[in-house]
Order: sequence, then C-alpha cells, then structure tokens
Amino acid sequence: MSGDSIESVLQESRLFPPPASFSAQARVGSMAAYEALAARAAAEPERFWAEIASELTWAEPWKRVLEWDLPDAKWFVGGRTNVSVNCLDRHLAGPRRNKAALLFEGEPGDTRVYTYHQLHREVCKAANALDELGIRAGDFVAIYMPMIPEAVIAMLACARIGAPHTVVFGGFSAEALADRIKDSRARLVITADGGWRRGAIVPLKDNVDKALEEVDVEKVLVVRRTGGDFSWKSHRDVWWHEAVDKASPVHEAPALDAEHPLFSLYTSGTTGKPKGILHTTGGYQVGAYYTTRMVFDLRDEDVFWCTADIGWVTGHSYVVYGPLMNGATVVMYEGAPNQPGPDRFWDIIARWGVTVFYTAPTAIRAFMRWGDEHPAKHDLSSLRLLGSVGEPINPEAWMWYRRVIGGDRCPIVDTWWQTETGAIMISPLPGATPTKPGSATRPLPGIAADVVKKDGTPCKANEGGFLVVKRPWPSMLRTIFGDHERYTKTYFGDIPGCYFAGDGARKDEDGYFWIMGRVDDVINVAGHRLSTMEVESALVSHPKVAEAAVVGRPDELKGQAIVAFVTPKGGITADDALARELRQHVVEQIGALARPEEIRFADALPKTRSGKIMRRLLREVASGSTARGDTTTLEDNAVLEKLAQSYQQEE
Ligand code: WTA
Repeated sequence: MSGDSIESVLQESRLFPPPASFSAQARVGSMAAYEALAARAAAEPERFWAEIASELTWAEPWKRVLEWDLPDAKWFVGGRTNVSVNCLDRHLAGPRRNKAALLFEGEPGDTRVYTYHQLHREVCKAANALDELGIRAGDFVAIYMPMIPEAVIAMLACARIGAPHTVVFGGFSAEALADRIKDSRARLVITADGGWRRGAIVPLKDNVDKALEEVDVEKVLVVRRTGGDFSWKSHRDVWWHEAVDKASPVHEAPALDAEHPLFSLYTSGTTGKPKGILHTTGGYQVGAYYTTRMVFDLRDEDVFWCTADIGWVTGHSYVVYGPLMNGATVVMYEGAPNQPGPDRFWDIIARWGVTVFYTAPTAIRAFMRWGDEHPAKHDLSSLRLLGSVGEPINPEAWMWYRRVIGGDRCPIVDTWWQTETGAIMISPLPGATPTKPGSATRPLPGIAADVVKKDGTPCKANEGGFLVVKRPWPSMLRTIFGDHERYTKTYFGDIPGCYFAGDGARKDEDGYFWIMGRVDDVINVAGHRLSTMEVESALVSHPKVAEAAVVGRPDELKGQAIVAFVTPKGGITADDALARELRQHVVEQIGALARPEEIRFADALPKTRSGKIMRRLLREVASGSTARGDTTTLEDNAVLEKLAQSYQQEE
C-alpha cells in the first residue's frame, strides 16, 4: 500500500477497510452491525441511551431519560450519580483495582504511576482538602495547571464534591485567565508553581498572581512542580501537598443530580468574548463513556494516549473522563513533542507500550516535516489504532500517519466534534467503517447529524451545506454560562429545529461526511479555536491602534494562520517595531496561541456601505499574498480601495 501516490488515492476516493484482525475482536465488527445499531438508535433513541447509561453506576435511577423542549435538554431526569465514582470507585471491586490508571511522564523525564486504588485515594484526599477549604457543591473552581497528575486529581476531586471546574489552558495569559475567573465566579484557583515546556518553566503561579490583581478569589492551591521561585501570598496561598497530604483518604461521594453542572470550559465564538460552555453530570458521563468505548474500542489491556492538554475539551473527555470510566490505562505527558529531540513522542509510545494514540493534524504535519527517521528509531509495533481530532486532516498527512506511524496496520479514526458536543459525534468505528483519507465518515449510532441548507432541508450528495444535529444527545452543552439567550441564538437560531455550531460540510454518495471548516468568524490555528474578533479586541486595546481586522489564511502546517490588518492611530509610524509590539500585546492579552503570523498596516480598512469590514476581501488579500515576514505595509491603498469598490458592486 505504501507505493500508492496521494493522487491515486484521491482519484479513486479509495476505501481502506479495517484490518480483518481488528474487526474480528471489535465491539462493532462490520458495517452491517453498524447500520443495525444506528437504525435501532434512531428508532428508539431514549431506549438506546438508557441502555448505555445503565452500564454506569447510579445512586438513584432516572425517572425519565429525556425532557426536550428545544433548545433545552435534560437527560436522565431525577437520576443521581457521581462522575468520579464512575471513573474510580466503580473499578475498585474488581481486577482493575490494582491496574495502572495513570502513567505520567514529565518533560524532564520524571515518571509516576498511579493505580486505580492509588488514584482513588488521592482524589478522596483532594476532595476532603477542598471541603476543608470551604468549597461546596455548586462553587466553581478554576484549574490552571501543567499536564501533571495533580491536574487530573483536581478535576476528579471537583467532580466528586460537585464543584464545577473551569480548566484554563496553561498557555493562556494572565489576562485571559482573569477573564475566565471573573466570568465563572470561581472561588478557588488550583495551580502549580510552574510547568515544564521546552526545557523552560511556564510561570503559572506568577500569571495567577497577575490575574488576581483584577479579580478576587478566596484561596489559591499551589502544587509544587518545578521548585522555581515565586512570591507567596500568605493570606491566600495554600500548598497542595500540605492541604492534600494531611487529608483523609476516605471520602463518601455525594449522589449528585444528573443535571448538576460538571464543568464549564471557555471556547471562542463569533464575538470577542469567549463563552463558558456548560456541561452537566449525567449526560456528559454517558457521552464520554460511550464514545471512548466505541471509537477507540478500548479494552483492558490497552494503553491509551491522547496528547491533548486538559485545558481543551479533548483533554477533558479523552485524557480524563472517557478512558477512566472505561477502566483504561492512560498516558499523560507534560511537555513539548520535540523536547529533548523530535522523537520524544515515539520514544514515549515505545517505552510505555502505547496501543491507541490520539493526536491532532497539526502535530502530524509537524512530525512529517521533521522526518521519517525519528519514528523509525523506535519500535511502534504496540500501536493498534490511531486517532485524529481538532481540524480537518489533509489526505497527505492521513496517508503519512497511516504508513509511517501505523505501519499500514492500524485503522485511523478521524473524529469530528466540538467543545459544545462534549464527545465525539462523527467518526469511523475502527473495526467496521472503511475509511477515506480526509473524511470523518459517518455519525456514531445515536447521533442525528446531517448536512442541510439554510432552511433546514437536506443537501443533495456532495452539495455543501451546514453541519447540524437534528436530535438532542446526552453530552450536548446545556447553556452558555450566564447567558442562556446567547446559547439559544448561537446554536438554535440559524437552522430551524437543529443544533448548528458553525461548520460547513458535505456528504458524499456513500453518506460520508467531509468537514469543510467553519462558516463563521472562528478560525482554527493548529487545532486551537480562536475568534477573529477576540484577536481584534486584543489589538484595538493597544493605545497605538485605531482599528483592526483579523482573518485566517490557509497555512500548510497549522491549518490556518492569523493575519491582522491594522490601522494605526494618526501620527503613529507603521513599522516593524510596531508590528512586534502589537504581536507581543496579543500574546499578553490572550496567549502565544493567538500571536498574529503577519501584521499588515493599512490607512483604512475596506468596508461595506453599512460600515461592516469586508472580511471576505481581506481573506483573499491575505491568502493571495506571497509576502513573508512580520510586516507588509499596504502602501498602495489604492489597490485595496479598487478591490473594495468591485465588492461593493457585487453586493
Ligand atoms: C473543528 C475540538 C474537521 C471544527 C474537539 C469544530 C474538525 C471545531 C474536526 C471544534 C475534524 C474538530 N475534522 N474539523 N475531525 N474536529 N474540528 O471546540 O471546525 O476546540 O467546529 O473541539 O474544530 O473545536 P473545539
């Protein structure tokens, strides 16, 4: 197979059937079995989801599976449960008790292993420590941590006592952290003195202190990770090891209402302000549990490694909740993929014996660029399944992943989903679905995804349209924290009767979904979701900026790159120094992930008669460019004006 050119694969739109050995033992081992399951789920969705839910532990059974009053869903109404019990306690009675739950490797090379028994003890201690700090069910807790076991323990301890967590990615700036603490009204922040990244320390605690100049919390719980210096605030700071180590390892988990909030996670939408996506206990746990089981076909002997940071939804559902509910062994790695060398990931896979590996297309493209010699140095034969998530995967990267990492023997699951959906929605089932490079294939049984026109009528085969979900599903978001109206408008306001969250797609003649990317002002940079307006607000908050417009342009490595068009205030010189200053300003306002690749200065931005910035035009200008480097001055504004005029006529 390795002899096939990309062109021949694409021309044939070739199907890669799952290897017979994989299908033979898979839970769903054929397309006929998939079709039967999907048909049953569509005919009796409530019964279908109830069967899955009943595989988990409930302190009290639900009275009704679903109450649906568009756009409001309640799942497993009246049921009481605890996600932490389903991740931990549930496994303690059987052979999983002494099995490894967490295999941790720090960037400097330090390792720790927690069995289910040990992880349970640590989570119980942390739950008691939170209780001691006065945190009660319903109080929000912000978690701003490196990828270390305490991050998982903190999340599970919050879940255990019913204190919803808001995990903030460690790459976000102090400013972004402050916004999220403010919006979620968190009472406590859990952080670390720092984390390791590319051999350097990420100053997490310093960032927390900076954020807390703007917003107040009662306590900050600090894990010692790097031993680096930071300023201790004695009225507020508490060492994790002091609070947790002395706490009792016995903790009776309360039975929480199925609709009790489990977490909020901030993500970018069309407007400048990130929104807190709220997920609740019962439905989320069913979604994370079911999808991990089906898509990764996880079994007890697997070693599962999802490379996402816990600051993103992928880390929530597939580092923590999904795999642990399935009693799996999870690998967790703190640092960069190229520290100390470009083969770090392959080294980890070989040393820990990883069997299922789940990562993002941007990472795959970077590995391709770094060269085949790095994976070739390591024995990757333990791998049996590969996954991709977060952005469309181009066929070249897909083929490379399959051949070089998967040795042509591992199926690839390209999984489409969102922070809002809580769990995977469209994906191959690895033992059943023949795959096509670049397609997420078919919706999971129980998920009523479709591609429709604006009025809600289905598109024809291969006709581009809006990707929607026509029926509620358990792990769907319940609201945008503090703004239910925005929830209704954003997700249920566009296409009648359907959930729509911003992606365009087409379905081919086999019913396979091809995701075409966002149709709103959200851009996807290296798998990270950002709104153009969020970056614009960061830019215009700089005193030298009069106006800014941000667009994405295609980028070979990151999928999309950020291009900012900026009009400086009168009297300000537009030069490289200013461009550098502005890029740094964005880093401080949001984080390095939002740093514009390119800044272009213009005397004025092209606008429609009604004053709207013509983004489509700017996108074309940005993509057509061969310009390189920091700054391109659009000196010849006449060109832009002419273009703008031709657009005005079109409209
Ligand atoms: C995009 C990440 C193509 C999509 C789990 C979606 C994808 C957004 C895929 C959600 C995929 C995610 N193929 N595009 N397999 N997976 N996306 O909320 O645009 O960070 O709307 O969730 O990523 O990003 P989020």
